[in-house]
Amino acid sequence: MTAQILDGKALAEQLRTTFKTRVAALMARNTCPGLAVILAGEDPASQVYVRNKVNACEAADVFSQKIIFPADVPQNALLAKIAELNADAAIHGILVQLPLPRHIHEASVLAAIAPEKDVDGFHAENLGALAQGVPRFIPCTPYGVMKMLETHRVDLPGKEIVIIGRSNIVGKPMALLLIHAGATVTVCHSRTRDLAAHTRRADILIAAAGKPRFISADMVKPGAIIIDVGVNRLPDGKLCGDVDFEAARETASLITPVPGGVGPMTIAMLLANTIEAAERKAEAAAAK
Ligand code: GUN
Repeated sequence: MTAQILDGKALAEQLRTTFKTRVAALMARNTCPGLAVILAGEDPASQVYVRNKVNACEAADVFSQKIIFPADVPQNALLAKIAELNADAAIHGILVQLPLPRHIHEASVLAAIAPEKDVDGFHAENLGALAQGVPRFIPCTPYGVMKMLETHRVDLPGKEIVIIGRSNIVGKPMALLLIHAGATVTVCHSRTRDLAAHTRRADILIAAAGKPRFISADMVKPGAIIIDVGVNRLPDGKLCGDVDFEAARETASLITPVPGGVGPMTIAMLLANTIEAAERKAEAAAAK
């Protein structure tokens, strides 16, 4: 079997046309959705992600503001900027690019973001709502993966789903969403014994470990669906995922490529959340 490619780039493009309509409707109500993106430090990958997010805003007619701090920024300066953005009526979404420099306490910074502007869905209040099954903002990467599965009409109830990676950004919220969708979810990570025994059982395998091509074809159940969240840079500068794509596509039924798979969907869902935040604010203002 050669797998069908799950094209995230094309799906993100389709979604963008629906965003344009929603943004136009907001503009007609004198609201321009606005996103602030904060980056602390010079991590090259984070710089690329932030640039892509700002460019996507521009293409969707969403206002964006990029705020760059040096790597040695004091935590108080970050908190002061977040407080300013919380009070800024032109900003509907605030995103702090992770990882933060080591001296910064990540949870304190995320807690400072007003929950109604937390378009990453990382604030404890939003993560709590997600855990309760009543999400307010769904973290962008897991949200994008759910959209891809939904678009391809992948049936989730009862499916064996194995997630590799237990991060707050992908693994944990992904597991919550899939549990609520009725799947049987296993979360594997760096301390998991006999990873291949788990992955070979998976009807759907979601790799978010950040290790280039470490999922080989023999770790994949024939006919499985593979979602590759990994974005790894090889020594020659090329990007690759966590899965050995060329080999695994001969075993899987559906597979996401890297680049062009989950990455564009993450950005699309960030736009979706930002537009949603602006819509909620406009609705609340109209109800007053
Ligand atoms: N770093 C890697 N992925 C993400 C993301 O989705 N949001 C933020 N804020 N930082 C990230």
